Amino acid sequence: MNWDETTDETAPERPVGPAADRLVGSAADGDDQAVEAALRPKDLDEFIGQEKVREQLDLVLKAARARGATADHVLLSGAPGLGKTTLSMIIAAEMSAPIRITSGPAIQHAGDLAAILSSLQEGEVLFLDEIHRMSRPAEEMLYMAMEDFRVDVIVGKGPGATAIPLELPPFTLVGATTRAGLLPPPLRDRFGFTGHMEFYAPAELERVVHRSARLLDVEIDTEGAAEIAGRSRGTPRIANRLLRRVRDYAQVRADGIITREIAATALAVYEVDARGLDRLDRAVLEALLKLFGGGPVGLSTLAVAVGEERETVEEVAEPFLVREGLLARTPRGRVATPAAWAHLGLVPPQAAGPATGQPGLFDA
Ligand SMILES: Nc1ncnc2c1ncn2[C@@H]1O[C@H](COP(=O)(O)OP(=O)(O)O)[C@@H](O)[C@H]1O
Ligand SMILES: [Mg+2]
Repeated sequence: MNWDETTDETAPERPVGPAADRLVGSAADGDDQAVEAALRPKDLDEFIGQEKVREQLDLVLKAARARGATADHVLLSGAPGLGKTTLSMIIAAEMSAPIRITSGPAIQHAGDLAAILSSLQEGEVLFLDEIHRMSRPAEEMLYMAMEDFRVDVIVGKGPGATAIPLELPPFTLVGATTRAGLLPPPLRDRFGFTGHMEFYAPAELERVVHRSARLLDVEIDTEGAAEIAGRSRGTPRIANRLLRRVRDYAQVRADGIITREIAATALAVYEVDARGLDRLDRAVLEALLKLFGGGPVGLSTLAVAVGEERETVEEVAEPFLVREGLLARTPRGRVATPAAWAHLGLVPPQAAGPATGQPGLFDA
């Protein structure tokens, strides 16, 4: 007898990995960054979906070009992986301008920003990712630079310090943020145009998958692309990542061609279900339904039940569950919706109880 095979029924489930390891996480990992450069659309025509933002931006850029002027400052807001960095590069390309890329967290001191601003060329695009995470002094310097194309460079220290005004060439600031609400109004007001990026419709993601498959030289049929698109949580970055994992599976276990069946089987291996929920999402839903009858249950209790930190449940799993209408946050706690029961193929307790009411009390 092989004693190693005895299973311990009381052992907790394998702990669910941190957010960074998730196949359906929307932040870019190292692997993504390498491939993404190759998959980024290069101009507005190639950019799929986001009709509103695309049309508005097209007008802003065309008008600036016609005037022979530098484009107005642009703010792009939206969840990770929806195409903000891509659009910033497209803006530069459409204006035939060079682009400088930096981010809020990279700018610790106002001096860091002054150094970047004072080295910009005329018409250059400055892409400031995660602009809501910039330090306050840098932010204040940016106000003046955006409005008057001027910075005050402080020379010396203490009482003898003097501010020397420095003229800047006109440039276009493209700010990106996942949290537009966190931007101070004076900063928000200095952008000439704000584009709100929405989650993508399945049909748009299908086009993203087809386009990426072509660039990666992978054969995929219509239904295979639809299957991947449906599991991508409205996010092109996730669609591209799932496509790469399905391609691996198709190469190793099949003839390399992605069909609906191959896509579905491959993503089952990676534990991404038909709706794009992964193991963590399903663990949270299952605990809510099976242990707490669909709630309401407090966040801490739910977190203990799935063996995760409160923050992980609240920030990693719940946003998508709420967006999908599977879970509701109420003042009394977390509650599952009818769609959650349906998704896990379970029957809500009321429906299972006797038709006369008093569900469950004396059920056998
Ligand atoms: N509209 C789109 N059409 C095609 N591919 C897209 C689109 N938006 C995003 N992508 C792809 O998704 C990936 C992530 O986009 P990115 O611009 O880095 O997102 P963000 O900066 O908002 O996190 C990129 O590889 C890009 O190729
Ligand atoms: Mg980005």
